[in-house]
Amino acid sequence: MSDNKNDVSKKAERLARARREVSKKKREAVLSALKSMLNDGTRITHAGVARRAEVSPWFTYNCEGLPEAIKTAVELQKKEAKFTAESLETRVTAIEKEVSSLKASHSDVLFELATPSKRVQGGVATSNVLMSAHQGGNAELFPKILNLFVPDGSRIADVTYGGGVFWSKVDLTRYELLATDISMGVDCRALPYSDDFLDALVLDPPYMEGLLRDNVSHKAGKGSHSSFREYYSNGNENSARWERPDGRPTPKWHAAVRDLYYYASLEAYRTLRPGGVFIVKCQDEVSANKQWLTHVEIINDCSEIGFYCKDLFVLMRTNKAGVTRVKKQVHARKNHSYFLIFIKSEVKRIRSKKT
Ligand SMILES: C[S@@+](CC[C@H](N)C(=O)[O-])C[C@H]1O[C@@H](n2cnc3c(N)ncnc32)[C@H](O)[C@@H]1O
Repeated sequence: MSDNKNDVSKKAERLARARREVSKKKREAVLSALKSMLNDGTRITHAGVARRAEVSPWFTYNCEGLPEAIKTAVELQKKEAKFTAESLETRVTAIEKEVSSLKASHSDVLFELATPSKRVQGGVATSNVLMSAHQGGNAELFPKILNLFVPDGSRIADVTYGGGVFWSKVDLTRYELLATDISMGVDCRALPYSDDFLDALVLDPPYMEGLLRDNVSHKAGKGSHSSFREYYSNGNENSARWERPDGRPTPKWHAAVRDLYYYASLEAYRTLRPGGVFIVKCQDEVSANKQWLTHVEIINDCSEIGFYCKDLFVLMRTNKAGVTRVKKQVHARKNHSYFLIFIKSEVKRIRSKKT
């Protein structure tokens, strides 16, 4: 009897030892599966670990120490993923910065290559340099900008020629001027020039949304302001004559101003040669009680198109503000405008149209 008892307990002991052995092996298999999943980046879950280790999920949940090991591995994996995403993002930003600075210097090189040097070796001591801020009118500043950026003999298209005020003090024998305007039937968003045809292009469309309204009787600058309206806008130049490439209607209000500059800039990019000079006149505006820094929008849009913004001039009017009824002034009255100087880079960054 007692021999029998001994046999049974020995057998049970053997069985328990065998079970412990199996369990130990399974545990090792789970730990090695965890390690390999961490190494190869497979997402860690109880079911996944169990599959790889060829054990049941029940085992991974219930074997002593395994739930904790799996939990730690999952957290480790999450941290690594975050780290990888973060470092990727940092790298992308760094590369983008590098590309844009390379682009800028590349545009400068293109410009220098295509522009006969006006510099003197070693330089000349002088204070007679062109400054970035001016008081006066377009007719005074524009020739100075040409002097600095556009070499003699250049083929220049002024695509919003208007009354030709920009050119009134320019020696026209120095350049080949191609003057067009919507009033002559040429839209600056669809120019009759082939690709890379121009050395320079001048753009000065209406900068106020009030001058781009479809309904002529709703246009800004009526009555005593009619000469202002005539200078800036020659008729119904907005959506009537031009269709957006995407078939959508021309936007309204300030968006119409930005849209006109944008599509004209795309056309400038197409028709200018690499290194060509794009001279843009603009002014910020308050429309629908909101401040619109148009010059910033244009700089951003042109950079996106592939231009490099080489310079910016501020022009301050000398004449006094016209008298208007003001209940309470909320924005400064604008008495300054801008000339932006862009250089066409060789590689166009976008080909598609803005929506
Ligand atoms: C501010 S004036 C230009 C003045 C001109 N820079 C000068 O020196 O006399 C704006 C001109 O843009 C023209 N314009 C408006 N929309 C146009 C378009 N889509 N294409 C071409 N010219 C446009 C107007 O007819 C107007 O003559």
